[in-house]
Amino acid sequence: MADRLRIPARDRLIVALDVPTVEEARQVVARLGDAVTFYKVGLQLLFSGGLELGNELVGQGKNVFLDAKLLDIGETVRNAVANVARLGVRFLTVHGDKRAIRAAVEGRDGDTALKILAVTVLTSLDQSDLDELHIPMTVAEWVALRARHALAAGCDGVIASGLEVAQLRQQLGAGSLIITPGVRSPGASHDDQRRVTTPAEAIQAGADYVVVGRQILRASDQRRAAMAVVEEIEAVG
Ligand code: C5P
Repeated sequence: MADRLRIPARDRLIVALDVPTVEEARQVVARLGDAVTFYKVGLQLLFSGGLELGNELVGQGKNVFLDAKLLDIGETVRNAVANVARLGVRFLTVHGDKRAIRAAVEGRDGDTALKILAVTVLTSLDQSDLDELHIPMTVAEWVALRARHALAAGCDGVIASGLEVAQLRQQLGAGSLIITPGVRSPGASHDDQRRVTTPAEAIQAGADYVVVGRQILRASDQRRAAMAVVEEIEAVG
């Protein structure tokens, strides 16, 4: 876990830029200033100028997490990741399919700054979906199996809900990254997140980074809200 412990608390907060336009995203980034060093650009923004914004952020010295959740045949994933690697972003998500992960790792080539992260099981999937597919496992077992396959295929880490972190950290060991979205500070609205933990709980359980969107985006003082999350991480990190 040596690497984890060396990450400063401020750099362990990733703010999800889940806003409709790049203009709004730029305003958020300007408001947050030096309080935040890492941003997640997801599907919503990717289709409204998010790649250009990602470039701008990289140019400003920020870390960028491209949450593209890639899944396609190997050749297509390999070529797509080769292009992503040229953008200078730090994290890229790929669905936890063995072939797609293997291709993504090949596509990144020598760019070791780009970490390939597997989405093991979408949290929208529950036990009834597995039953419907005749998969004879609990969701936790399915997550563990998918994580094992993803790591064997060469990915650098996984996206995991706060409640899965402890089990995955034990399973994956210290060398893999774990990024946890869907966290909420004590007292904050859960919005539509159901299985939440606090940022501190996720970090204590073994997460390297937490992703926070609405709790910060909807705050009347976004910078203060981000700094409060960093303080929570600092207290346990
Ligand atoms: O607004 P909130 O903090 O809930 O946003 C969390 C971010 O993490 C969103 O960008 C969402 O898409 C992403 N995410 C999630 N839960 C997962 C995986 C990703 O909320 N299981």
